[in-house]
Amino acid sequence: MIEITSVTAMENTNYTGEKIFKDAQDFLPINGTDYVEMYVGNAKQAAHFYKTAFGFQSVAYAGLETGKKDTVSYVLQQDKIRLVLTSPLQQDGPINEHINKHGDGVKVIALWVDDATKAWEETTKRGAVSFMEPQKEEDEHGYVVKSGIHTYGETLHIFVERSNYKGVFMPGFQAWESDYSPAPVGLKFIDHMVGNVGWGEMNKWCEFYAKVMGFTQLVSFDDKDISTEYTALMSKVMSNGTGRIKFPINEPAEGRRKSQIEEYIDFYNGAGVQHIAVATDNIIETVAALRARGVDFLRVPEIYYDDVLNRVGEIDEDLEPLKKLNILIDRDDEGYLLQIFTKPVLDRPTMFFEIIQRKGAQSFGKGNFKALFEAIEREQESRGTL
Ligand code: FE2
Repeated sequence: MIEITSVTAMENTNYTGEKIFKDAQDFLPINGTDYVEMYVGNAKQAAHFYKTAFGFQSVAYAGLETGKKDTVSYVLQQDKIRLVLTSPLQQDGPINEHINKHGDGVKVIALWVDDATKAWEETTKRGAVSFMEPQKEEDEHGYVVKSGIHTYGETLHIFVERSNYKGVFMPGFQAWESDYSPAPVGLKFIDHMVGNVGWGEMNKWCEFYAKVMGFTQLVSFDDKDISTEYTALMSKVMSNGTGRIKFPINEPAEGRRKSQIEEYIDFYNGAGVQHIAVATDNIIETVAALRARGVDFLRVPEIYYDDVLNRVGEIDEDLEPLKKLNILIDRDDEGYLLQIFTKPVLDRPTMFFEIIQRKGAQSFGKGNFKALFEAIEREQESRGTL
């Protein structure tokens, strides 16, 4: 049994920024999220959805026309957020199996590093299961080096080294020129990505991020923080040394009725990415645009707004538009944040998005959990899965 001091030492520690990051090990420097790849049943239509509803722009394409025989991929981007949507073109193979088992879902959280070979060596040396040894891919625009490891469920981390590549995305892709380009909605970068894991698995995966990737724990929530009359979950937030990569890990907890995390695990058939939180500089404009384009959000009751300012204190924004758009507010020692959650963006009640604007706060909206989870329970009730 390996002692994971970096996790236990951080137990019950608040997110006080530098002190914690100073302790983070730096054997795995990560510049940011490179891309998120989803395996989907129909990449062409999914790409249209993310353009139309979320304002992503067409960037790159790989498929039959570019010499791919088995798969097709569309690459979309909005500011620093890059999505890759991949579908199979044939009847058998791992992508079909993935979609059959999980429905549409996140397969790869790709991390942008300066040295993909070292990233692979350092993580596999510490116990990561290799998915892909470092490999160089090149075309006339230069080369990238990729390597990969397994994380929770069937999810992967691919390390991408791209300092010697000038092309539109990666070798094998061509520029995707499209006459259809709905305007961006102001989404800037991925703030955090949350994994749901099975009963009793949260600590195992937090230890994985600590031991294998040098992450530290920012904060933890137990079932007393995150429970309503019926549902419960536990959560710990793991962060890399720069704080740019934040991975909260959730597991279900016992409640009177079924935990929302268990519902996810049932429909996803295992652990996987629950939500992608994307940052904006103007949540009122962003959410107004998303709503106008047909994105569905969870609703908290109007009563939430009656005493919210007593709880969070003064904020820069007028309350009225926040109330109208049903945007939630929370405060911690460092400032406040505004956030809202979409309903699942798939038919299975699995993955959804969070839109977040941070005004100093580095936390995750703990003060909103109860109102939010009651909203989720109403959804679960309507699905007959509570
Ligand atoms: Fe979140």
